[in-house]
Amino acid sequence: MINDQAKKLRQMMATMSEATHQGVVVGILSGKGGVGKSVFSLNFAISLCRMKKSVLLIDLDVGMGNIDQMLGRTAEFSIADCILDKLRLEDVVFKGPDNLSCIAGGSGLGNLFQLDERNLDAFLDQIEALRHRYDYVLFDFGAGVSENMLHFLLAAQRIILITTPEPPAMADAYSALKILLHHNPQLSLFCVVNMVDTLQEGKDTWIRLSQATSRFMGTDISWLTALHRDKAVLRSVRDQIPCVVQNPGSRYSVEMRLLAASFLVGTGPDTQDHLMDTSGLHSFAGRVRNYFRLLGGRGQ
Ligand SMILES: Nc1ncnc2c1ncn2[C@@H]1O[C@H](COP(=O)(O)OP(=O)(O)O)[C@@H](O)[C@H]1O
Ligand SMILES: [Mg+2]
Repeated sequence: MINDQAKKLRQMMATMSEATHQGVVVGILSGKGGVGKSVFSLNFAISLCRMKKSVLLIDLDVGMGNIDQMLGRTAEFSIADCILDKLRLEDVVFKGPDNLSCIAGGSGLGNLFQLDERNLDAFLDQIEALRHRYDYVLFDFGAGVSENMLHFLLAAQRIILITTPEPPAMADAYSALKILLHHNPQLSLFCVVNMVDTLQEGKDTWIRLSQATSRFMGTDISWLTALHRDKAVLRSVRDQIPCVVQNPGSRYSVEMRLLAASFLVGTGPDTQDHLMDTSGLHSFAGRVRNYFRLLGGRGQ
């Protein structure tokens, strides 16, 4: 009898702790494609897992989802099935390295976020339920700010912008930032400069972007770090094994570990805004719904 009660209590506590994760939503964005955003998302997610965080990585790179391929597999189901075939989000989660949970983007998602308010509600309810099982939910958004993603991006608690030092990548990154900050100047933005040859090159890129957003939109961008161009990344993409798993001693992997650690220090779920994040406008779903209405039912 006492054993039964103890067992029940343990089960209850396990359920409660599973349900009480903060589920901080982090949007990962770039201005243009090919800057290493998906490679970053996957290696960053695994690095957070290795720091004892529970992480869900959702591939929202519309029509070009490739997280499953980067893990050497083809996901049977994707986020598209949750809308089209009425599968539940939790049914399409698959496990990656270090207990990382992933949801594949699939292809042909062009219409996924052309949701009416009723579909959006059902979808957001599922995200909200799943979110609280994780410390961090990372969205790998496509390149640029598409109108269908805008309200999701604006609702994220953190945005990590990936760019390279090349002028076209920086110009597109700035355009993306301009759209986001026009709608929400309070966004919490972080910059990662990828494929640099020197750390200074990365810092110069960040300073130029941050000075521009600060001057014209009144918002600073926080510096995370720069990631060097590294042959180990090319090898890992070719072999379909994430770099931090295949070659943890490579420059990219070491820098990624430092980056993940400084992200956790600067944005841990203990900060005030997360403690407030319980319901209504303070929940991710509440904020998406709010922006959805503000933007006239579509992300325009
Ligand atoms: N730090 C890096 N060093 C060298 N090559 C990189 C690095 N980051 C990314 N790449 C290369 O860039 C390619 C594109 O990366 P990917 O993440 O798919 O881009 P995106 O998601 O931005 O379109 C990868 O296949 C990889 O070969
Ligand atoms: Mg990509």
